[in-house]
Amino acid sequence: MKSPRLEITRPDDWHLHLRDGDALASVIGHTAQRFARAIVMPNLKPPVTTVAQAEDYRRRIMASLPAGSPFQPLMTLYLTESTAVEEIARAKASDGVFAVKYYPAGATTHSDSGVRELSRVYRVLEAMEKHDLPLLLHGEVTDPDIDIFDREQVFIERHLVPLQARFPALRMVLEHITTRDAVDFVSGAPANVAATITVHHLLLNRNALFAGGIRPHNYCAPILKREAHRAALLQAATSGDPHFFLGTDSAPHPREAKETACGCAGLYTAHAALELYAEAFEQAGRLDRLEAFASFHGPDFYRLPRNTDRIALERTPWNVPEEYPLAGSTCQPMRAGESVAWSLVETAAS
Ligand code: DOR
Ligand code: ZN
Repeated sequence: MKSPRLEITRPDDWHLHLRDGDALASVIGHTAQRFARAIVMPNLKPPVTTVAQAEDYRRRIMASLPAGSPFQPLMTLYLTESTAVEEIARAKASDGVFAVKYYPAGATTHSDSGVRELSRVYRVLEAMEKHDLPLLLHGEVTDPDIDIFDREQVFIERHLVPLQARFPALRMVLEHITTRDAVDFVSGAPANVAATITVHHLLLNRNALFAGGIRPHNYCAPILKREAHRAALLQAATSGDPHFFLGTDSAPHPREAKETACGCAGLYTAHAALELYAEAFEQAGRLDRLEAFASFHGPDFYRLPRNTDRIALERTPWNVPEEYPLAGSTCQPMRAGESVAWSLVETAAS
């Protein structure tokens, strides 16, 4: 019997870490095989804070793509307390920069140049509202007295609600949401507020951090939450609500940076991203809604054309390798050594 097949408009990844140099060359192929475009995070070391740096980074990404790949990186700027207001007009006028990313200082990988006090960037946010440049939020507080599992919920109450009241026309994406609180906030918000959802937050809850022992490869920021939150995310992603769209937050780290006394945050999912999203949607009995979440809601929010070519998956399981090369080291991907239910159908175009 032939395996069930699913054909959809080619998707985009609205939140991705591509790194730089040899690591970039190691990982880009996985994304380019599946996605037409990706919003590329600026948390390099040093961070990408100017349009000139974003354009250079874009050229390095283009140079590392497999020959003939039509993949397009959509660049972002890293917001700091010294970002110049003029940089926003420059970003808007450029054809490469599509958003500005807010990291609270200390929240995650390479976030030490992030913002300590939101009021110090109000003038930049005003310029973004005026020029209609989206703000992408790593929505967590970093105060040491806040429980790590509450960081997102407290960010919404303390910062996001006031931010939205102060800048009502600013387009904002609450990135990689992990809680029912975020789902409730975003689904009740106007159309200029949206959220991305990763596939690891759709498929895993916090038990995956401690299954039989500590699991550093399942550690990410924001951290995995309890099952009720995962269920709320799955409901939101599969609801058809255009506030929610695909953003993998695939974030490769070399094995030795994960398997250590103080390991880095990030799951690598680019190798099987669309296939894993298909598993999540199938689990919810809503494969019919994968296309809107993966391929329509994102470009509509960013006011970019939807893709016109298509991609096919079939329900044939395959085994994920134990590791992939990453620069001079290796990276352990999600599902390493285990099976994924859906596979990509290779076509001439992909
Ligand atoms: O888990 C994460 N990894 N979350 C982030 O916000 C950053 C990312 C990374 O760059 O490794
Ligand atoms: Zn990220």
